[in-house]
Amino acid sequence: MGRLAVVTGSNKGIGFAIVEALCKKFDGTVMLCSRDLERGQKAVDSLKQKGFNPVLHQLEISDQNSINKLAETIKNEYQGLDILVNNAAIAYKHDATEPFVKQAEDTINVNFFANLDVYKTLFPLLRPHARVVNLSSSLGMLKQVSSPEIRTKLSNPNLTEDELVSIVKEYLADVLHKELVQVEDKELEQDTYLF
Ligand SMILES: NC(=O)c1ccc[n+]([C@@H]2O[C@H](COP(=O)([O-])OP(=O)(O)OC[C@H]3O[C@@H](n4cnc5c(N)ncnc54)[C@H](OP(=O)(O)O)[C@@H]3O)[C@@H](O)[C@H]2O)c1
Repeated sequence: MGRLAVVTGSNKGIGFAIVEALCKKFDGTVMLCSRDLERGQKAVDSLKQKGFNPVLHQLEISDQNSINKLAETIKNEYQGLDILVNNAAIAYKHDATEPFVKQAEDTINVNFFANLDVYKTLFPLLRPHARVVNLSSSLGMLKQVSSPEIRTKLSNPNLTEDELVSIVKEYLADVLHKELVQVEDKELEQDTYLF
């Protein structure tokens, strides 16, 4: 039974570098996951030119069907998973012009909810002694959370998944509320000018 390492979002960037490093050091199959097969194939081809042999799998982490297909491949062809690197994520640039509420929703939908779907689907396939690596950012550290009350809740070692999900949903609702209040304030300002 061959060992398997899966790296999500690995057609470029840090994920791609992790695949290359695993190809050098891991005794087993390394799976390069890409949401776009063409981009994924280019990445695989460039590693093949260096003498490595990763296998390609399509994976869009925001699509449960795509996650399910990866799970099926792992079950049928490898019977289990030894290393899972949760790397796929998005980040808006500092100068992004999209409204903050859209940035918050998009980021949380991919970086939190879609990754949670990956965990829920793939964790049952982890073999005993498997390793999971979750990529994060300094922006994801507890010290970045300004509310002491939320910080305390988030650092509770007994925090449940449901509690965490409801904190994240409350944050999104709060962002949306603030955006609506700002829009109303602007409309009020315009009305004042009109009269
Ligand atoms: N670079 C940094 O300075 C830095 C700092 C802190 C943390 N990190 C973390 O490190 C990880 C990699 O960052 P990076 O800089 O290498 O990012 P990147 O160059 O933007 O690469 C992100 C990868 O994730 C894929 N991806 C994005 N959304 C996806 C989705 N919905 N489904 C499947 N794949 C998706 C991208 O695919 P496409 O090519 O198709 O877009 C790409 O392959 C992320 O988790 C990030 O939060 C990076």
